Amino acid sequence: MTQLTVPVITIDGPSGVGKGTLAQYLTGKTHFHLLDSGAIYRALAFGAVKNRLALDDVSGLVTLAESLPVEFVATSILYEGEDVTSKVRTEEVAGVASTVAVISEVRAALMARQKAFAVLPGLVADGRDMGTVVFQSADLKLYLTASAEIRAERRVNQLKNQGVSANIHKITRDIKERDERDLNRQTAPLKPADDAIIVDTSYLNIEDVCKKIDSLLWDRGLIK
Ligand code: DC
Repeated sequence: MTQLTVPVITIDGPSGVGKGTLAQYLTGKTHFHLLDSGAIYRALAFGAVKNRLALDDVSGLVTLAESLPVEFVATSILYEGEDVTSKVRTEEVAGVASTVAVISEVRAALMARQKAFAVLPGLVADGRDMGTVVFQSADLKLYLTASAEIRAERRVNQLKNQGVSANIHKITRDIKERDERDLNRQTAPLKPADDAIIVDTSYLNIEDVCKKIDSLLWDRGLIK
């Protein structure tokens, strides 16, 4: 029996660059499934803290990663059945996620779980290594970039809209620290795939980015 191939669109790039917004737009356009791989790493970080695991306890982290009790229901993230969506979206959890994500055994333990999202009618996968490692034969690979200062400003505005005050200097420092770890790790460092289309979102609003990508969807036969 011939297997139907599942179309995949990957979106990689650093924190706060607009991947999530673009991923939402693309799933709306294509009706594909969504993989927010960062949420898996964040759920692992949340679980590690909850279980008081040391962040260098490789075997403990791998055991947790192999049977991570996380589920995605609509836009909510459930951990052991509890809605932890806002708890895993904090800067602190992001920092722990980026720390445990450096460990190659942890990344390997999360691989099958991520690949399992690729089912018909297709997948939009958002993360750091979607196009370079997890879905190397994706039909369309996008890599978004923007300066750390602009990304920090966007994050502060997002927090303000949620009624949370934030210090721009601290957020910029946190973002740069995380970039540093994500870019320089040995396994699956953040970088564009050779065949990725690079979009600098620094001076584009999300509507402009989406418009730019619409024509690519047509060209690659991802929408009809
Ligand atoms: O996309 P995000 O900010 O939710 O991701 C949080 C951290 O998880 C990020 O700093 C690095 C890690 N991560 C990763 O290493 N690989 C991915 N595919 C996605 C996230």
